[in-house]
Amino acid sequence: MRIAWAITGAGHLLKESVEILEKLSKNHEVTVFLSAAGEEVLNMYGLFDRIKNITGGYYRELAIEMDQKYSYPISGRLSLGKYDLLILSPATSNTIAKIVYGIADSLVTNTIAQAGKGKVKTLIVPVDLEPGDVDTVLPSKLELAKCQNCEICTAQAACPKDAITPNVEIDLLKCIGCGACKNSCQYDAIDVGKIITIHMREIDIENTNKLFKMEGITVVENPEAILNNINSV
Ligand SMILES: Cc1cc2nc3c(=O)[nH]c(=O)nc-3n(C[C@H](O)[C@H](O)[C@H](O)COP(=O)(O)O)c2cc1C
Repeated sequence: MRIAWAITGAGHLLKESVEILEKLSKNHEVTVFLSAAGEEVLNMYGLFDRIKNITGGYYRELAIEMDQKYSYPISGRLSLGKYDLLILSPATSNTIAKIVYGIADSLVTNTIAQAGKGKVKTLIVPVDLEPGDVDTVLPSKLELAKCQNCEICTAQAACPKDAITPNVEIDLLKCIGCGACKNSCQYDAIDVGKIITIHMREIDIENTNKLFKMEGITVVENPEAILNNINSV
């Protein structure tokens, strides 16, 4: 099967999505489409290289926002029906809001729109699915309460991207989530994978509900459940 897989900038369900994507790429041709935020957030969680490792070659490209400029030519493949399936996982509240109002101004939203025109079946895993609170995982974080502001910061020295300002913060736009900082700080001042609880906004849930009514789109509750839906394509 030929699959287009789009990733947006959600930390929630990101690792789970990458795991299913890796699985599918073993037996299917998979092209990966990243939103600009998707690329950044994959880096923050140390997952970007895993995407790079499974891409390469015709119909196995890694399409990124910046290379596709303003008209996203690669998404034309969807309007031509060149893929059997489009998967968007994880889908941010931002991208869902755009999709349900027909906006196609980014690589991922344009790919969804073109899939509709090319009648390519689309599976979407929205991060905001049900009302209430949800646990989610943070990228690397400097815990100021534990930071001793050492004269020589071993975490800063260990960081290959110069992302750490001791006693201030980790610059997430430089961080590649490698965890070298965590392992080097004797005061355990770096948190990697901290769980926090966030509240699902009503407007995001409303938008997800609109998604259920869109033609050609199936809402899937989590990345693992994508596998059940694949067999029916
Ligand atoms: C570490 C990190 C985690 C994020 N996780 C989420 C998330 O789980 N869900 C979400 O809707 N937005 C999340 N965001 C915010 C989105 O990245 C942001 O809204 C972005 O503009 C979405 O763009 P996109 O929809 O084009 O990917 C996160 C941002 C950061 C920095």
